[in-house]
Amino acid sequence: MTAASTPAPGSVAPPLDPATKSMDELVALCKRRGFVYPASEIYGGLNGFWDYGPLGTALKNAIRDHWWKHSVECPPLDPDTGEPVSIVGLDSSIIQNPRTWEASGHVGGFSDPMVDCTETKKRYRADQVEVLVVEGRGKWAFMENQPDTIAKKLKKAGVALDDGERKLLPDFDLSEFASIIAPDTDKPGTFTEPREFNLMFSTYVGALATEDNKAYLRPETAQGIFLNYKNVLDTMRVKVPFGIAQIGKSFRNEVTPRNFIFRSREFEQMEMEWFCAPEDSPKWYEFWKQERMDWWKTLGIAEANLRFRDHDDDELAHYSRMCVDVEYKYPFTAPGFGELEGVAHRGCFDLTQHQEHSKTKMEYFDQERQLAAKAEGKSKEEIDAVSKYIPNVIEPASGLTRAVLVLLCEAFTPTPDRKGSAYIMSFKPKFAPVKAGVFPLVNKDGMPEVARKLYLSLREKHAVEYDAKQSIGKRYARMDEIGTPFCFTVDGDTLDDQTVTVRERDTLAQERIHVDQVEAYLDAKLAE
Ligand code: GAP
Repeated sequence: MTAASTPAPGSVAPPLDPATKSMDELVALCKRRGFVYPASEIYGGLNGFWDYGPLGTALKNAIRDHWWKHSVECPPLDPDTGEPVSIVGLDSSIIQNPRTWEASGHVGGFSDPMVDCTETKKRYRADQVEVLVVEGRGKWAFMENQPDTIAKKLKKAGVALDDGERKLLPDFDLSEFASIIAPDTDKPGTFTEPREFNLMFSTYVGALATEDNKAYLRPETAQGIFLNYKNVLDTMRVKVPFGIAQIGKSFRNEVTPRNFIFRSREFEQMEMEWFCAPEDSPKWYEFWKQERMDWWKTLGIAEANLRFRDHDDDELAHYSRMCVDVEYKYPFTAPGFGELEGVAHRGCFDLTQHQEHSKTKMEYFDQERQLAAKAEGKSKEEIDAVSKYIPNVIEPASGLTRAVLVLLCEAFTPTPDRKGSAYIMSFKPKFAPVKAGVFPLVNKDGMPEVARKLYLSLREKHAVEYDAKQSIGKRYARMDEIGTPFCFTVDGDTLDDQTVTVRERDTLAQERIHVDQVEAYLDAKLAE
């Protein structure tokens, strides 16, 4: 682990390389400070489920509100007209008529390949199992998040990770499985044949648990948007191009949930479906790709930790014509990157499928295109062709809980040189769960009264905390670890000149400002 050394007061240390951050330490801090707890922990937990503690909830809500603001309340400007694009919000049901998922292709095709180990009874996602082949010596399978286990095994066998060739399990012929040693055993030949495993959680609606009553928890929020496309078109004053945005829970029975909250079985998504004329779809695809990357930067994520990755044709989802991921350099992928958001060109796949399955017409009549084609003297067939269509969809789809993980990873900074705090969480002030701490230096001489008055006035506008317990050093240390960017301390001088000390989390810089200026100071910092 490399740590940030304490900068000289007033200067900010450069961001740490994610590869140097320890996930174990971050997970421990998240639990200790109330960001994320394992779900149902007192019963031994449940793999792939997490609870967001008081500070994790505040962080998640801040990201959620920022996304909603930039998507629905204050969406970007149309590059051609300079006017804001039109996006409306939605909150659809988690459980929909099960025919939804037949039409969307999820019942038939939303699956991952799975293999079991007959020796250990452990289950793996086949496409995430890597196999090291050392000619004439053996074939060792491993999961990327088991570096210590594989290191021990290879040492015992007298080989090293770079001694041979590494291939994914699905690239092997079934006949070769007999010689592969599965990740958690030393015996070769214990892998079963890979099977497709549907990721949707099912349940029953009503009193009887019969096939007729079977329903699904949604695996993506997107389908609720497609089901309401016509409702929105008919009841809101929107016309193509426009978007529908939704934030909410999704559920996937992931074969191998892993990497803390990165891949969980219950998570939250932030998705927007942008409906546009087919000819305009390439332009909007490029537009939303860039918009989304720019948006991630507004969360305070270092540019070096973000990148685009285009999907190869063979990895495109069943509905997708083109897709690009916005990727982040997580501590567990560094120096590589992992998915944060996908921007997909879904063509007219979903609306056409729902039209066929529900017999509801999804065609859009585009009056503006009709008038333009008429003015150009086009034939009736040509006019119909451009003015009646099923819209194409560009979909920026991101994970809210994945965004929480990214901000936790980005902010996590070990500071062994700093007195009192082993870590700081250097969130951009706007996203910090607690925006400011207000302290009396000591609990006497009228200081608590002034500090409480200041706290009571600030809390009307911002999430601030009053803390008068323990020593001032311990209070600062706690605020550093939960990522509070500013602390205002009332001391002996305050009573004489009405000034308080502001201490800045990252730089440790301290200055005195008038108590009447505190609110304006905080407003300005949080607006950055
Ligand atoms: N509607 C398209 C769709 O759902 P996706 O790439 O499967 O596309 C979009 O999911 C985003 O949702 C991902 O980029 C990721 O941020 C988040 N996500 C997907 N599965 C997840 C899981 N099991 N746990 C946490 N986040 C997940």
